[in-house]
Amino acid sequence: MNPVFCAVDTATLYNAKELVDSLTGEVGGFKLGLELFMAHGAAGYRTVAASGAPVFLDVKLHDIPNTVAGAVSSLLPLQPSFVTVHASGGKAMMRAAVDSAAKGGASRPKILAVTVLTSLDSADLEAVGQGRDTKEQVVRLARLARESGADGCVCSPEEIRPIREALGNDFILMVPGIRPSWAASNDQKRTMTPREALDAGATYLVIGRPITKAPQPVEAARRIAEELA
Ligand code: C5P
Repeated sequence: MNPVFCAVDTATLYNAKELVDSLTGEVGGFKLGLELFMAHGAAGYRTVAASGAPVFLDVKLHDIPNTVAGAVSSLLPLQPSFVTVHASGGKAMMRAAVDSAAKGGASRPKILAVTVLTSLDSADLEAVGQGRDTKEQVVRLARLARESGADGCVCSPEEIRPIREALGNDFILMVPGIRPSWAASNDQKRTMTPREALDAGATYLVIGRPITKAPQPVEAARRIAEELA
């Protein structure tokens, strides 16, 4: 299977539909985040899901366990393949998300935990009272996520190896911050190429602008798939 989830980062249904229509069959799935989901909710989701490809619904849930369980339950009819929760919401919260997802049966969404946002550095962690080396904190939260029954986590390329070393191979790693050698880095720092990230142990790759802002998005998606083949 093509491990690339293309990020649909737009608040406009028309743009989302155009992008998804053009890339269906060229990528492994689509990632939709808060931008589109806040603007259009289930209609935004369905626009992306109409492709028939797996959908990664990146809503980063973080609330008391009962509320997160309810939120996951409300998402079940949409049948997303993956839903995110914040690992820092704690074990009971992640467990509640996992238990709620299980009620989706065979089509249940897999629960992925967001560890430390890549926008935060050690000083930022210190400021919110988590004064610890960022990588240590990421591994700690990934371990907590697994103990809570989560299926995997979202992590940056440079965190793939430390998490694999700590937790082994039976854990999904969904990895953004991917840049083919021929693409602009934009605002992403510490990137890896698609090939490097897979070799390091990534399960899936989230790739946005190198595909969506390319002069020929379909060509860009094909070039990435060829590099991974
Ligand atoms: O365009 P680009 O490839 O940078 O898009 C990456 C996608 O992954 C965006 O939707 C971005 O919000 C998301 N993401 C990220 N870094 C994280 C978590 C999510 O870039 N740590």
